Amino acid sequence: MSNTKIAVLVGSLRRESFNGKLANALIKLGPSDFAFNTVQIGDLPLYNQDDDENQAPEVRRLKAEIADADGLLFVTPEYNRSIPGVLKNAIDHASRPYGQNAWAGKPAGVIGISIGAIGTALAQQHLRNVLAYLDVPTLGQPEAFLQMKDELFEPDGSIGQASRQFLQGWMDRYVAWVKKHAA
Ligand code: FNR
Repeated sequence: MSNTKIAVLVGSLRRESFNGKLANALIKLGPSDFAFNTVQIGDLPLYNQDDDENQAPEVRRLKAEIADADGLLFVTPEYNRSIPGVLKNAIDHASRPYGQNAWAGKPAGVIGISIGAIGTALAQQHLRNVLAYLDVPTLGQPEAFLQMKDELFEPDGSIGQASRQFLQGWMDRYVAWVKKHAA
């Protein structure tokens, strides 16, 4: 049976990113017939509509990776109560040129971790608005707002005991969501 391909988009470029760690830990909770590919977004140029008819190779690569994916997994921090510019830049790139929106119809999950008490809730809500416009069916429940605590990750990077069941449940619902839309 062929694998279900998931494009993972991490909204932080930071070397020690908690969201990068969360993405890697979530991938380990996924089923064996799901293949997760973390998409590179840090080398994309700043979006400029003048370039729509002559997209940079990095943009064409991003669009090809999204087109090839059966589903999307967004793992993002919150910057100033919204999503980081680097993630919005990637989303804008792959939505264009007009009429060639690579995101459309790809089932998605949205999750994130921050050091703040509301754990990316507002960033996730902003991201949901953007994805709704781009015709991306996004898993509504369960929501997952994670605040960084030392015990969240085990030394090997996997999810710690206290949050493991919750995040496994989140992943299971995400997998069911992707399969439902792929069917
Ligand atoms: C933040 N941070 C932050 N946290 C939060 O909960 N809500 C917010 O609005 C913001 N705003 C914000 C803006 C900017 C420019 C930075 C750099 C940071 C803190 C943020 O949660 C923290 O830096 C995380 O470590 C970022 O995620 P990564 O890079 O660890 O994945």
